[in-house]
Parts: sequence; structure tokens; C-alpha cells
Amino acid sequence: MEIFLDTANVDDIKRFARIGIIEGVTTNPALIAKEGRNFMHVVEEICTIIDGPVSAEVISTDADKMIQEGRMIAGIHENIVVKIPAIPAGFEAVYTLAQERIKTNLTIIYTSNQALLGAKVGATYVSPFVGRLDATSTNGADLIKEISQIYNNYDFKTKILAASMRNVVYAKHAALAGAHVATIPPEVLDEMMKSELTDLGLAGFLKDWETLPEEKRQYFAH
Ligand code: E4P
Repeated sequence: MEIFLDTANVDDIKRFARIGIIEGVTTNPALIAKEGRNFMHVVEEICTIIDGPVSAEVISTDADKMIQEGRMIAGIHENIVVKIPAIPAGFEAVYTLAQERIKTNLTIIYTSNQALLGAKVGATYVSPFVGRLDATSTNGADLIKEISQIYNNYDFKTKILAASMRNVVYAKHAALAGAHVATIPPEVLDEMMKSELTDLGLAGFLKDWETLPEEKRQYFAH
């Protein structure tokens, strides 16, 4: 499973790019607004940090305007993926942009039928909102499994991008359910690297190491 960072914060993107565990970035209007920066500037900067897909979203809800915005956003950088909401006008916009070979991410998906139609119109990615679905007592991981089965049945090339990963359990379920990608917020990705048992195990090793006479530890002297 590929991992994208779900943020528009360039410091976080730089930090995780250095660690080497992210392959792309997703933003949305709310995440851009949180940074308080010019949309174009922030998206351009993200594309200079990470050499992989960067999703940037249209804000219109009318098909023609979405297409116009999509073309403009796609012109920012070759790695841009135009994010389009899964409303009826959005399907039309994805279809037109896909004909122009512009990559798209059909977002705010809550049903496998939306994902099926997203694949039919040529979306590069579909983004089921797993966490938000769980918040309504519906199992988000099941939605990923359903979409996965539908895509396998018909050999669709559209990728499942599990979104709204609000905690580490969602990320694990996305991987188990066969998502191609999960987009994960920085604080959740930080948690995924940690285990209290790892910290405890390491503390024990380092404590025992101190029992070795100093002259026998000189290889590690700084
Ligand atoms: C990413 O594509 C989505 O916009 C994001 O994951 C939504 O996450 P949220 O439900 O926590 O806002």
C-alpha cells in the first residue's frame, strides 16, 4: 500500500519525505485554508518537495467550472492530481478531464456505486472517506473491500485511495482491506511508527549495554 500525507503543511511534508515513508500528498480546501497561504503557492511548493502525486481540489460545484479549474490546477505541475467531489457534476468533470489525460481523484466517496461509476468515467483514484463513514456507524473497511472486489471483478485500473484516516486502526484496516493507497494525517503517521513495547525493549537493551566496561564500548565513542 502506498502512503500519501494528508496535509498542506510543508514542514510536515518535508519531515516525512526525509523519513522516506510517503509517496504523495493529498490536500483539500479545508487543509489549505488551515495553512492560511495562497492556494497556488502552497501547491507549487508541495510539488517541489515530493516527487509523487499531489492532489489539489476544485472548489466549484458546476461541471464546466470544475473542468476549467481542473485544467488550471493540472497546469501547476505534472504530478498534480485534480480532486473532484463525487457529485453528479463531478463525474462529468472527471470524464472530460480523463479524456484530456489529466489525472483525477474522485473524492468524498461514501458508496461502492460511486466508486464503480468513478472507475467508469476514468478517475485515476477514488477516495472513500473511511473515518467519516465509521462516525455514522457504518464500517469503512467494508466499503474498501466492496470497492476492491468490484474493481477486481472488472479489472478496473482506478486506484482505491483510503481517506479520512483519523487514527492508526483505520490505516491498518485500509491495508488489510486491500486499498492501493492510504492518505494519512501527520499525527496519525507519527503514531504508526511507535509502540510502547518497542520503547521498553530498547530501554532494556541500552541499560544492559551500560554494564559493558567503557573501554569495550569505544567503537561507539563520539
Ligand atoms: C483526503 O483526501 C481527505 O480530504 C481527507 O482524508 C479527509 O479527512 P477528514 O475526514 O479527517 O477531514
